[in-house]
This record gives sequence, C-alpha cells and structure tokens, in this order.
Amino acid sequence: MTHDIPEIVFATNNTHKLSELRAIVGDSLRVLSLADIDCHEDIPETGSTLEENSMLKARWVKDRYGYDCIADDTGLEVEALGGAPGVHSARYAPGEGHDSQANMKLLLKNMEGVENRHARFRTVITLLTDAHGCSVVDGIVNGVISAEPRGENGFGYDPVFVPDEAGGLSFAQMDATAKNDISHRGRATRALMKLLQQF
Ligand code: IMP
Repeated sequence: MTHDIPEIVFATNNTHKLSELRAIVGDSLRVLSLADIDCHEDIPETGSTLEENSMLKARWVKDRYGYDCIADDTGLEVEALGGAPGVHSARYAPGEGHDSQANMKLLLKNMEGVENRHARFRTVITLLTDAHGCSVVDGIVNGVISAEPRGENGFGYDPVFVPDEAGGLSFAQMDATAKNDISHRGRATRALMKLLQQF
C-alpha cells in the first residue's frame, strides 16, 4: 500500500453516489467501488426493509471479498401511496432491470389527481468493519412529488422530488453540493462520518 488512508468499499457502482460520498468524506477515507474490487455480481436485495437490504449488501462484500464495507439502501416513501415505492424504489415499474424514466412515469401516473403530495427519501447505511462490527445510521429529507419532471441534474427520482428546504427547486434543479447539504444520503453519510470519528 502506498498511502496511509484507510480503504473502504462502498457497495455500489453508481457514479453519482460514489462522487457524492467521496465529496463528503474528502481525504479521510479512500472509497472503492464494487468495480474497483472486481465484484461484478448482481448482489441480491431480497430484504423487505431498507435496513435488511443494506445489511445484505454489506455482508456480501465482507464475506466474499474481505473488505470493510459501507452499503446503502434508499427508498422514496410517498404518503398517499402508503409508503410506496419504498424498498421497491429501484424496480417500481415492471420490466427488466432498473429504469429511472419508467419508475418516474409510473409514480406520476399513480399520483395523478392526488392532492396529498408529501413524500420523503430515506437512506439507511450499514457499516461493517473488522474492527468495530456492524453499525446502522439513516438520513431523511421531506418533500413533495411534483406534477411533472423538472431539471437535468442528479439521477433516479430527482426530477420529481421537491425537497421542503430548497425554495421550490427539484433535486434535479440543484447542484450536487446543494443537494448533498440537505439530502437523505448526505444526512446519512454525515451520520456515518460522525460514527467513524468515534472509532
Ligand atoms: P438505491 O437503494 O440507492 O439503489 O436506490 C433505490 C432507488 O431510489 C433507485 O431507483 C434510485 O434511483 C432511487 N434513488 C436513490 N437515491 C436517490 C436520489 O438521491 N435521488 C433520486 N432517486 C434516488
């Protein structure tokens, strides 16, 4: 090893998520992706809660690859839909794989004529390390579902989620720093950083 910075795997290949996390942790940790450790498997996410899924992913990496690991799971919970899509957010729309456009389209269809637009993003992060075992933190941002998509930034449901704290902008109309400041994952990640500092 040519440096003293601790390495940790973030169990994702989502470049948006990786750069969001790297921006928050700065130089304190070297964050590796699944591709960086040659993990090209589709890690099963068969849990019925965000907590279970993040734990499954962290455990998969730790058991098979040996790395200390961070794994997250995020859900968009819409009040009028009884918390859906929730743990099924990635595959809300039927069909193969993960199609953000189809997911958003289905969400807007299911919200047609619905007055209560309240929703929240929730991220759960599991940290699994040899030295400290398993810890779980979460982060929440409250907002509303817009009538139609707005903005080009970000990913996933960003164009249809308008956080309460951003003066009416959707997540996709905010730059990455402004989003990180208030987002579910930003909050969960800062809770994770606090935890790491206690170690
Ligand atoms: P995952 O658990 O991070 O894979 O997220 C589950 C689903 O929520 C995926 O469809 C993501 O696109 C979506 N999602 C996660 N985080 C965000 C976000 O910050 N903005 C918009 N959509 C997100």
